[in-house]
Amino acid sequence: MEPHPLAIVSAMHEELRALVPALVDAQQHTLAGRRFFVGSMHGHAVVLALSGIGKVSAATTATLLINEFNARALVFTGVAGGLGAGVRVGDVVVARQLLQHDMDASPLFPRYEVPLTGRARFDADAGLSNALATSALRCMARAAELLGEAHMIDFGIDSPLVHEGLVVSGDRFVSTAAESRVLAEALPDALAVEMEGAALAQVCADFHRPFAVLRTVSDRADDSAHADFTRFMTEVASVYTRVIVQDWLHTNAARAVA
Ligand code: ADE
Repeated sequence: MEPHPLAIVSAMHEELRALVPALVDAQQHTLAGRRFFVGSMHGHAVVLALSGIGKVSAATTATLLINEFNARALVFTGVAGGLGAGVRVGDVVVARQLLQHDMDASPLFPRYEVPLTGRARFDADAGLSNALATSALRCMARAAELLGEAHMIDFGIDSPLVHEGLVVSGDRFVSTAAESRVLAEALPDALAVEMEGAALAQVCADFHRPFAVLRTVSDRADDSAHADFTRFMTEVASVYTRVIVQDWLHTNAARAVA
């Protein structure tokens, strides 16, 4: 087994709950009020972490995973609101770039740029994202079998797709059509909005650690964004996470990570 673990991070327990029982020889640690589950999966050393919600929570957790657990790669998984046209509830988004949509130190720095880094967009690791996107495609092909027809109909999921591109993060749950329209107009290539990915990306860039962000679209970031939220995480997103992460670990793609 590799000495340094692969880290799988979610904001909330509901997003990770299907994966936790799959951990072999699991040991639980609490650091800075967060839970970390250390063990192995498919022959890989793995640490599962619950970050809490928002950019600071994600940044603290990423720093702990790197400094305390020596994680060699970090994967953030959970739910997001769909922004891009055609990004529907039940689809999966693999981030190729991350940006903080609420970062604005203008006129001192260009809007969205993280001051003194010269960057607004942080690239996810290409190999890691490729491998996860491949596993996500395999999962989508089995969605009806994994979720059951009744759940698909219940959540309005039909022929789910995998999208790859820009994911934006901010310390706000976007829950009005007016707000998501403003975001989509300002950042036309944004596929989805969530609250942690870009913070994890910034920390991983600082520490030169590969990372990826994989999100299941739980809502359209509009006025009905809160409906069925917890049930969706438990019954859809955590199932996708379990299947995609296990496929990724099982197919040995994880060994390719530096
Ligand atoms: N995560 C899931 N849905 C979201 C939304 N609408 N806004 C921000 N984060 C989210």
